[in-house]
Amino acid sequence: MRTPYIAGNWKMHMNRAEARDLAAQLRELLAPVKHRIMVAPPFTAIETVAVTLQGSNIMVGAQNMAPALNGAHTGEISPLMLKDAGATVVILGHSERRHSYGEGDGLINEKVHLALQEGLEVILCVGETLEEREAGRVDAVVEEQLAGGLREIGASLLPRVTIAYEPVWAIGTGKTATPDDADSVHGTIRRIFTELYNSEEAEKIVIQYGGSVKPDNVKGLMSRDNIDGALVGGASLKVDSFGPIVQFNS
Ligand code: 13P
Repeated sequence: MRTPYIAGNWKMHMNRAEARDLAAQLRELLAPVKHRIMVAPPFTAIETVAVTLQGSNIMVGAQNMAPALNGAHTGEISPLMLKDAGATVVILGHSERRHSYGEGDGLINEKVHLALQEGLEVILCVGETLEEREAGRVDAVVEEQLAGGLREIGASLLPRVTIAYEPVWAIGTGKTATPDDADSVHGTIRRIFTELYNSEEAEKIVIQYGGSVKPDNVKGLMSRDNIDGALVGGASLKVDSFGPIVQFNS
């Protein structure tokens, strides 16, 4: 049985005071929730949020990291620094990293290896652009991103890996994939896991959907067999919208 997992990606929003305030409100509201919850503030607010959420049921994540522990990497953040600040999870391969900053599967794979080696949990994001969808390439793109991002990641590490399917055309656009569309791609992801690993791992892997998830569409998405959670952008910035999304089943 897969445990539902709802995560908020705050992207480049929130100064420390705003982050503390939101985290404190979420802590109180979401205390009774039994499934997994994570928030990923910008780097500068990770420590503040980690302190605010210490001892709560909400994990703290980062939105990216360097593929190196330390050294001459101007402008980068090491997994050691993320852990030092209080993060236990890192989002890797987000489409904004892939498309705005040119990250490819090779680099993302290096990051996945290092994050897992350092004991962090990983959310690995995959998803096609509108052009790729219209060209009928959804399965091929997702397969390439999974095979590339998980290259030489052993099955024993998969309990610390979550996949987020985020169709690029649905991110920040208000266009959500229909529950049928999303469930079908999630089913494809499980088939790919059977090929890359085995059917047991395919059954166990937690797959979040991301792309304009809101309080009014989360229930429909979460009711599908292959959709185990959500990676929420815009709607994770307010307690009034993230709260009901996390509480989708109450
Ligand atoms: P939105 O929920 O704003 O569409 O963002 C989705 C996303 O990119 C989460 O990582």
